Amino acid sequence: MEMITNVTEYEAIAKEKLPKMVYDYYASGAEDQWTLEENRNAFARILFRPRILVDVSRIDLTATILGFKVSMPIMIAPTAMQKMAHPEGEFATARAASAAGTIMTLSSWATSSVEEVASTGPGIRFFQLYVFKDRNVVAQLVRRAERAGFKAIALTVDTPILGRREADIKNRFTLPPHLILKNFEGLDLGKLDKTSDSGLASYVAGQIDRSLNWKDISWLQTITSLPILVKGVLTAEDTRIALKAGAAGIIVSNHGARQLDYVPATISALEEQLSLEEVEVALHDYLVCKSNSLLKRLRLPKARRSFNMKFDKASSVGEDIVARGRVSTHDNIRGRRRSKSSRQRVVALSAIEAEYIAMTEVVKEAYEYGVVKAAEGRIPVFLDGGVRRGTDVFKALALGAAGVFIGRPVLFSLAADGEAGVRKVLQMLRDEFELTMALTGCRSLKEISRDHVITEWDRPRIAPKL
Ligand code: FNR
Repeated sequence: MEMITNVTEYEAIAKEKLPKMVYDYYASGAEDQWTLEENRNAFARILFRPRILVDVSRIDLTATILGFKVSMPIMIAPTAMQKMAHPEGEFATARAASAAGTIMTLSSWATSSVEEVASTGPGIRFFQLYVFKDRNVVAQLVRRAERAGFKAIALTVDTPILGRREADIKNRFTLPPHLILKNFEGLDLGKLDKTSDSGLASYVAGQIDRSLNWKDISWLQTITSLPILVKGVLTAEDTRIALKAGAAGIIVSNHGARQLDYVPATISALEEQLSLEEVEVALHDYLVCKSNSLLKRLRLPKARRSFNMKFDKASSVGEDIVARGRVSTHDNIRGRRRSKSSRQRVVALSAIEAEYIAMTEVVKEAYEYGVVKAAEGRIPVFLDGGVRRGTDVFKALALGAAGVFIGRPVLFSLAADGEAGVRKVLQMLRDEFELTMALTGCRSLKEISRDHVITEWDRPRIAPKL
C-alpha cells in the first residue's frame, strides 16, 4: 500500500480483492458507459493558465460549506452498501472523513445506520435521501438523521428508476446475506430480493417513489429544517427551479454515470457549451436592436447602416469597432490638445467603444450559460463525478463549483485498505490540490478564477480581455 501514489491505483487492488459481483456493482456505469468515460475525459480536456511569481509560501485550502468550516473543498459522496467493500464499511469512511476535517455524506442505502455512523464521533455529515413510496418511512428517516446530528439532506433526484447497469443484471446483483440496508432494519425494507436480474433495480422499482417532483421539495421542507441539497442537477433550467424551490444548494451529478447514459460529464455541465449558431443568434439579436441607433449616432453612410447582419459581417464590424476604440483611447490620453472637431470624434468613437464592450458582454453571456450562471451566486453549486486528481478539484472550482464530492475512490480504497485507505485517498487529493494551487499561483480558494483554466469552448474567444 505504501507504493500507492495516486487515487486511481486503488481500483486494481479492489478488483483483485472483491468478489466480482461487488466490484462490478461499484465500478459500473449505465449501458454503453459512455458517460462513465466522459466524466474523466472531459476533465482531461480542460487546461490550465497558470500565473507565475506569486508568493505561495502559505496556501489556505479551507472552505465553508453551508456555513460549516471544512479543511478542504473535497467531500465524500454517498455510496450505498460500503460493508461489501470492507467489514468496517461506513464506520471507516466516517472516521476517515472526520480525521481529514471534511464532510461525509451517508447513503440512505448504507449498511450502517444514521445512529451508528453518528456514534463514531464528531464530524460534519450530510444524509442522502431516496424518497420511498411510503412517505412515513421517509419522514421517520429524516427525523432520525436530524436527531443523529446530520447537517443537511442531499435529495437524490436522478433515480426514479434505476439505470441499466448491465454487469449487475448479468451478475444478478444482490446484497450479501450477512448485510442489510441498516437504516431500514425492522421495516421490512432492509433486504434485496433475489431476482433474475439486478436485485437493486427490482428494489427501486418496488419501493422508490417515481412520482417525486418539484412540489416534494416543499413537502420535505415541512418535515425538516435541515438545508436541502438537490443532487443530480445537470441543466441551467433545473438549477433555476431548484433555486426558486428553496434548495440550499445543488449537486451537479450524473450519479457517477450510473443512471442516464450519454448525459454530459458533470464538469461540462457547469458551463453549458453553446453552438456557434447560438452565439451568432445572440449577437445578431443584439446588433439588430442596437445598430440602428448606433449607426445613426455615428452618422455613418447609409450603405453601412443597412449591412447584412450575418455573423461574419458582425464580427468584421466588431473588429472595426475595436480599431476605432483604440484610436479613441489613444485620443483620450492626448486629452487637452484636441481640437473641437476631434473632441466630437472622440465622443463618437467612445460610443463605438462602449457598444463594442456591450457586444462582447452579450457574447460572453451567451457562452457563460449553464448551471453556475443559473445559480446566480445565490446558492452553492457542488459537483461529483470522475474527480480523481487535485487538478480536477481545481478545474471544478475554477468553473464555479463551491466544492466536489468523490464516490468510487472511497469504495476502492476502503476495499483495499479500510479506513487507512480512505484517509490516504483524502490526503492524496488534498496534497495534489494544494500543489495545483501553488503551481497556478493561488493562495486561497477565492483566488481560483475562471481565468486559470481554458476550456474548448473558450477558444473562439472574441474578446478575452478588455
Ligand atoms: C453511488 N451513488 C449514489 N448516489 C446516491 O445519491 N445514493 C446512493 O446510494 C449512491 N450509491 C452509489 C453506489 C455506488 C457504488 C456508486 C459508484 C455511486 C452516486 C454517488 O453519490 C456519486 O454521484 C458518484 O459516485 C460520483 O462519481 P464518482 O466519484 O464515483 O466518479
